[in-house]
Amino acid sequence: MKNIVVLVSGGGTNLQALIDAQESGKIQGGRITCVISSKPGAYALERAKKHNIKSRVIARKEYADSVVYSKAILEALDEEKADLVVYAGFMTILDELVVKAYPYKMMNVHPALIPSFCGKGYYGLRVHEEALKKGVKLTGATVHFVTEVCDGGPIILQKAVEVQSGDTPEILQKRVMEQAEWKILPQAVSLFCEDRLEVKDDIVYIK
Ligand code: GAR
Repeated sequence: MKNIVVLVSGGGTNLQALIDAQESGKIQGGRITCVISSKPGAYALERAKKHNIKSRVIARKEYADSVVYSKAILEALDEEKADLVVYAGFMTILDELVVKAYPYKMMNVHPALIPSFCGKGYYGLRVHEEALKKGVKLTGATVHFVTEVCDGGPIILQKAVEVQSGDTPEILQKRVMEQAEWKILPQAVSLFCEDRLEVKDDIVYIK
C-alpha cells in the first residue's frame, strides 16, 4: 500500500473527491495517510477530521521564505513516509529541493488545459477569469507531475469542459471541478498507486 500525502490550502473539494474515491474502492494500491495544510483554518482540515485522516498544519505565514518553508514540508513528508504527494488546491510554490527529493512522486491538479492559463499567478478563480477574458470555448483541468517549472511538469491526464454563455468565473470554476478535476485527480492517483504511470523524455505513458 502506498502512502498518499495530500497538500491543501483551502476548501478541499479535491481532497473530498479523493476521500470519496478511496471509500468507494476506486483507489487501488494506496491510501491517504496524512493531509498537510498551509493554512490553519482551511476547511480541508475538517474534511480530513470527519474521515479520521491524520492532518498537520504547516502554516506558510510562520516561515520567513520559501526555502525554510520547503524544508519544513520536506521534513514532514519524510516523517510521513510519503510515496505520493498530491497538491489538491495547494497554493504555495515549493522550492525545488522538495521536487528533487520526490521526483515524479508529486502531482498537481490545475483548473485549465495546460499549457493554457498556467504558470506563476494562475491559481484558483484567477484561471477562470483569464479563460473568460480570452473568450475560449473549451477549458478543463490537468493533472501533471510537479517539477521545478511551475505547472510545467509531464501531463498525466486532462479533461475538457465547455464554456457556456453567461458563465461567471465562479460558475465556470464549479463546472470544471465537477466535470473534470474531481474525476481525473482520483484517476491519476489510482494509476500512480497501481504503478501504471511511466515517464520517458518528459512524456507520461499509461501502462
Ligand atoms: C481547484 O480548482 C484547484 O484546481 C485549484 O484551486 C482549487 C482548489 O479547490 N488549484 C490551483 O489553481 C493550483 N494552481 P479545492 O481546495 O476545493 O480543492
